[in-house]
Parts: sequence; structure tokens; C-alpha cells
Amino acid sequence: MKQITANFQSQKLCYKFAAATFVFFGIQGLVSLGGALEMVFLDVPSPIQYTAGRSFHLNISVLWILLGITGGVYYFFSQEAEREIYSTKLINISFWFLILTLIVILGSLLLGFNDGREYLEAAQPLKLAVLVGCLVLFYNLVRTYMSCSVPKTRGTLVGIISGCLSLIVFYLPNILSYAHPTIEEIFKFWYIHLWEEMSMELIGAGLMSALLIAATGVKRQTLEKIIYLDMMLIAGAGILATGHHYYWIGVPSIWLWIGGIFSAIQAVPVLLLLLSVIKTMNTEYFSRLLPREKITMALVASSVFYHIFGASMLGLIMSYPNINRYTHGTYIVSAHSHLALFGVFGFLVLAICFYIFFTGFQLKHRDYLLCWLAVAVLNSGLIIMSLALLVAGWLQAYLLGLEGLSITEVNALIRPYLIIRVLGGFVFSLGSSVLAWVIVKNAWHYREVFFAAGSQTNNREVQKLNCLRLKMREMTSKNKEIEKLLYKVKSQRELLAGIRKLFRQKKKE
Ligand code: HEM
Ligand code: HEM
Ligand SMILES: [Fe+2]
Repeated sequence: MKQITANFQSQKLCYKFAAATFVFFGIQGLVSLGGALEMVFLDVPSPIQYTAGRSFHLNISVLWILLGITGGVYYFFSQEAEREIYSTKLINISFWFLILTLIVILGSLLLGFNDGREYLEAAQPLKLAVLVGCLVLFYNLVRTYMSCSVPKTRGTLVGIISGCLSLIVFYLPNILSYAHPTIEEIFKFWYIHLWEEMSMELIGAGLMSALLIAATGVKRQTLEKIIYLDMMLIAGAGILATGHHYYWIGVPSIWLWIGGIFSAIQAVPVLLLLLSVIKTMNTEYFSRLLPREKITMALVASSVFYHIFGASMLGLIMSYPNINRYTHGTYIVSAHSHLALFGVFGFLVLAICFYIFFTGFQLKHRDYLLCWLAVAVLNSGLIIMSLALLVAGWLQAYLLGLEGLSITEVNALIRPYLIIRVLGGFVFSLGSSVLAWVIVKNAWHYREVFFAAGSQTNNREVQKLNCLRLKMREMTSKNKEIEKLLYKVKSQRELLAGIRKLFRQKKKE
């Protein structure tokens, strides 16, 4: 068995976050397939009612991503702050509290307890529990941040901590209910839009930069410059782009302008990050990557791809109010939801959790091949599903909105595409099951190390030792670079000597 190589105890505590995230993701794949089947074959008896299944699906979509992000935040915050997280006990409490909250929320939804507000259907005390989870995370991060000795302006730390604070601010009004439907809708999108398109984007930018620095050796200085500009754009555009959800909910029409204009700016941050990564990376980085990093990078690349095409481009088209009139409420929105929520954050969280999990355990060759297969299958499933939904949605928008056909006629015409969506869903759940299986199998195999990880106390000596280990690591990597340079100089000298010899021989001749 390979020894655990994480630098800090706090990071070792995150293995279980990573494993649990894959389990919830695997469950979602299988349950969603049932939902998609039910939409096509209405008469087939199902143990779960459609409304219960839908609310389960919507809630688990956001919650497994939150669970994975929480693990990623603890792991990379500790790495970037170059110290233990303030309280390792709180990390454990955070984990079990979140798991319990997730199970009770999802269980109660399946049993039919439903508050009625999409994405926020859980009972009020359970929503309060999600808020408490975010508060605990934020408190632990702030205490760590205050006592770390690295520059406080480090972009990754600032991005993660401000993202976590905004999670609390935007969720807060949603633990209450409102009598007026417009007020309910206004606040609902603080959760479903602002959580995703601002808070998670901020945390995601911080985590992705930390991940790239750790996994590929991209230079911190280059990313640091871009990350502040990125954060400002994410926060500024993200907040006002909420307007693209406010077009038809009964607020003044100025929101049509605000939503349209600020949605257009939303594509800029990811393009900036991508450009700076391309600028600093070269093919040499990739040839040096280990199997774990290769799979991680494939997942990150998938996330960036969907960020550009599924979230930004498709989102931008739908944000133009005159187009949104027709696309609103069609399967085009559903295609965007899958491409953006799973495509962007799902893949990013899977990348982070995969990286974290295999810090502790060696990725065997057979599992490595299985993971490649799973990533390819997941991407294929998502693309088949989304293309089918886009065609179905386009037919809905065109035939219902412009040609004036009846809903029954349109439903009959889009049925074949919904069947293709089910096939895509089948491929998707094959990929999610394989990936979840590889992780669960390894977690079970190494269960003793897994649950004992990080059980040591968080004392000053351990922290000093860890800092020393980190510095040693930096020095060895610098040594390696110098060795490579020397090697290059040596081989160039040899080449020159060879050329000189050739010249001399020619002269003699
Ligand atoms: C990665 C980030 C994103 C995520 C996770 C995301 C997620 C979602 C979700 C889940 C919905 C469905 C909401 C509902 O059920 O009412 C939605 C709708 C929408 N999103 Fe995004 N989105 C993202 C980025 C964007 C961007 C960048 C834009 C614009 C440039 C955008 C524009 C829209 C529009 C116009 C709608 C449809 C609103 C409607 O007609 O109901 N999204 N998004
Ligand atoms: C096997 C894979 C999946 C299948 C078959 C599936 C199926 C469905 C179905 C049937 C709906 C109801 C609305 C509609 O018909 O489009 C839906 C909605 C939704 N799903 Fe999935 N889903 C899958 C995976 C995921 C994943 C992994 C996520 C995110 C992590 C996700 C996020 C959503 C969201 C946000 C909505 C609401 C969309 C809206 O109403 O605009 N789904 N999905
Ligand atoms: Fe949005």
C-alpha cells in the first residue's frame, strides 16, 4: 500500500469528503435515469412519484457539489495557507453534519415531504442545517486565514474565503418563506443563480488555480495576476446577471436590460483564466504528469469546455430577452442546466475529489484505464443527452412559440428526442457508476487508513514539521530544475564539441 503523501492532517481528513461525493454522484446518475424513463413511458409503474423524484434530483444536484466543494476547500485552503486548518475537529464535524443533512433532506423528499419551492423543497429546519454547515466552514477558514504566515493577499485564499462568505449571504433569505410569489422567486435565484454563478465561480476559480499549481506546476505569479481581475468580473457581472432569471417574474422591465448586458460579461472570466493557463503551460508539463494528474486534467479540461460552450455561449444566447421569450420553460433551459451545473461544476468537483482521493492511495493501472473509460463515457452521455434536449427544446420554441401548434402535437413530435435523451442518460449513468465504483472499491480496500487518516492531534510540532517538509519539497523541485538545466548545458557542450571535431576533420581533408 502506498503511504499517504498529503502535507497536513487537515488534508487527510478530506479523503472521506472525496469518497462520499463520488457515492452521491453515482446515486444521482442511477435515480435520474429512472426519472428520464418515466417522462417517456408514462404508464410504467414507478416506486417514486415524479414530483418526489424531481425534487430529489434538483436537491442532490446542488448538494453533492456542495459536499465535494467543502472537501476541496479544506484541502486546498490548508495547502495554500501552508498550515493546518484551525480546527481539524470541526472538519470532521462538518463532514458528518453535512452527510446527515444530505441524507435527511433527500430521504424526506423521497417520502413526499415537499415545501414546493423548486430547488429548495426541503423543510425549513433542514435548510437551516445547510446554512449552519456553511457557517462552520466559513468560521474555520477565517480562523485559519488570520493565523497563516503566507501573504494574506494570496489570490487563491481570497477567492475561496470570499466565495464561502457569499454562500452564507445568498442562502440566508432562503430559509424563510414569503407570501408574495415574486419575492419568493427573487430570493430563489439568489440560491440557484448567485450560488452557482458567483459563489461557486469564486471558490472554483481559487480551487482550480490551486489545483493547477499543485498538479501541473503552472507558475503562481502568472495565475495570481489574473485571479483578482477574474474575481472582480465574476462578482460584478454575476450579481447583476441575476437579471436573466427576472425577465418574467413581475419585476420592473429594467431587469431585461440589466440581465441582457451583464450576462454578456459573464463569459470573460473563464476565457481569461484559460488564456493565462495556455500561456504558462507547455507540452512538457503534460508529458511529466502522473496517471492521477492526467485523469484530473482530463476532468478539468471537460469542465472548461462546458464552461465555454454549455454555460457561457448557450447562456448568452438565452439571455437576450427577445430569444428568452421563446426558450423560457423549454428543454433548451434543461440542456443548459445539465451542461452548466454538471458540465462545469460537476466535472470540476469530480476533478478535485479525484485528485484528493488519490493523494492517499495509489491509482492502480487497471483502475487508471477504467477511469479514462469512465471520463470518455460520461462526456459522451452528457453530450448525447444535451444535444437531444437542445433539439427537443428548439422544436418546442419554434412550433409552440412561432408556429402556434398545440402542446399535445408538439409533445408527440419531440418524443423521439426524449427517447434519445434517455439513451444519453443510460450512457451517462454507466460512466458515473464506473467512476463511483473505482472510488468505493479503493475506499473499502484501504478503509483502515481512510478513517484513521488525520486522527492525530493538531499540535504546533506537527505544523512545524509540515512546514519544513513543504520547504524541503520546494528545494528538491528547484534542485531538479537546476539538474535539468545543467544536463541541457552539458548536452549542448557535447554537441558543440562534436561540431568542432567535424570541422577540424573537414579542414584536414
Ligand atoms: C457555470 C455556471 C452556470 C450554471 C451552474 C447555470 C445554471 C443554470 C440553471 C440550473 C438554470 C435553470 C434555472 C431554472 O430552473 O429556473 C439556468 C438557467 C439560465 N441560465 Fe444559467 N448557469 C450558468 C451560467 C450561465 C451564464 C454564464 C449565462 C449567461 C451568459 C446563463 C444564462 C441563463 C439563462 C438565460 C437561463 C434561463 C432562464 C429562464 O429562461 O428561465 N447561465 N442556469
Ligand atoms: C443520468 C443522468 C441524468 C438524467 C437522465 C437526468 C434527467 C433529468 C430530468 C428528466 C429532468 C427533469 C426536466 C427535464 O426533463 O429535463 C432533469 C432536470 C434537471 N437536472 Fe438532470 N439528469 C441527469 C443528471 C444530472 C446531473 C448530473 C445534474 C447536475 C449535477 C443534473 C441537474 C439537473 C437540473 C439542474 C435540472 C433542472 C433543469 C430545469 O428544469 O431547467 N442532472 N434531469
Ligand atoms: Fe443564471
